[in-house]
Amino acid sequence: MSFDNQVVIVTGAGSQIGIGCHVAIRFAEQAARVAICDTDPDGLKQTQAAIESRGGEASSHVLDVSDSAAVNAMVADVESRWGAVDVLINNAGIARTAPFTEMSDTELNQTMDVNFGGTVRFSRAVAPGMIRKGSGVILSVSSIEGHAWGWPAHAHYCASKGAIEGLTRALAVELGPQGIRVNAVAPGLVWTAQSTDPVNSVGPEGLDKLTDSIPLRRVAKPEEMADFLVMLASSAAGYMTGQTVVFDGGITLGELTPLLR
Ligand SMILES: NC(=O)c1ccc[n+]([C@@H]2O[C@H](COP(=O)([O-])OP(=O)(O)OC[C@H]3O[C@@H](n4cnc5c(N)ncnc54)[C@H](O)[C@@H]3O)[C@@H](O)[C@H]2O)c1
Repeated sequence: MSFDNQVVIVTGAGSQIGIGCHVAIRFAEQAARVAICDTDPDGLKQTQAAIESRGGEASSHVLDVSDSAAVNAMVADVESRWGAVDVLINNAGIARTAPFTEMSDTELNQTMDVNFGGTVRFSRAVAPGMIRKGSGVILSVSSIEGHAWGWPAHAHYCASKGAIEGLTRALAVELGPQGIRVNAVAPGLVWTAQSTDPVNSVGPEGLDKLTDSIPLRRVAKPEEMADFLVMLASSAAGYMTGQTVVFDGGITLGELTPLLR
């Protein structure tokens, strides 16, 4: 799997324990040129340094994925530097606790605008270059919460991830004839800043408890998600489009026995 000189964008790559940082590093290790963005400037600097320390090439862009002008400017900058984008990884996302009957419009709009809107904006910005080139891969990070499960006090999160999956199917059909593959991954539990936040997610204790319900009996590492995303972006998955692939250690199979303990 080589991405020699390919141009890759990874959104939400600033957290050193996040999926985005690890996937950016993995692509750089496969000789891709990697453009990363995040709202966190210090985190981005660390990810860029990690890439460069491995001999990779990266460019950092501090932006909020809910800002269309900033997204368009980043893609224009990357294209003028390196050419059309080969692979887009829509990874940036947030989870915020908001019981449904108390959810404000601001909470609803923020989660939709980052998780779903960010995916729309980046996909829309890179597609013209991919169409001109006649090839490209758009890969988005959904969640089992948008695919198979419900998460109390996270209706907006579940809906935003489900929307990513609908978008994935629609874009696969619309852009497939231009040589562009569009897929999504629905992770289960991955040990990152998002899942270990006890206020907005399950926290470390919750992850430990849930391990009992995962057939593989462990939470995923962000590095494993990164490897899977790189594989799906590669020619190994060259005939696959419009799909959301579950990557969850089997938790959505709903194993019965832990419930009896
Ligand atoms: N961790 C899990 O268990 C899990 C499960 C299912 C899906 N996911 C999804 O995986 C993706 C990566 O999350 P993670 O678990 O690595 O969490 P994380 O919090 O470590 O990483 C998310 C990154 O996105 C960045 N970000 C947030 N809002 C942004 C914005 N508006 N603009 C730009 N960047 C922004 C954050 O600063 C952070 O660096 C997310 O889409 C998340 O919803 C995670």
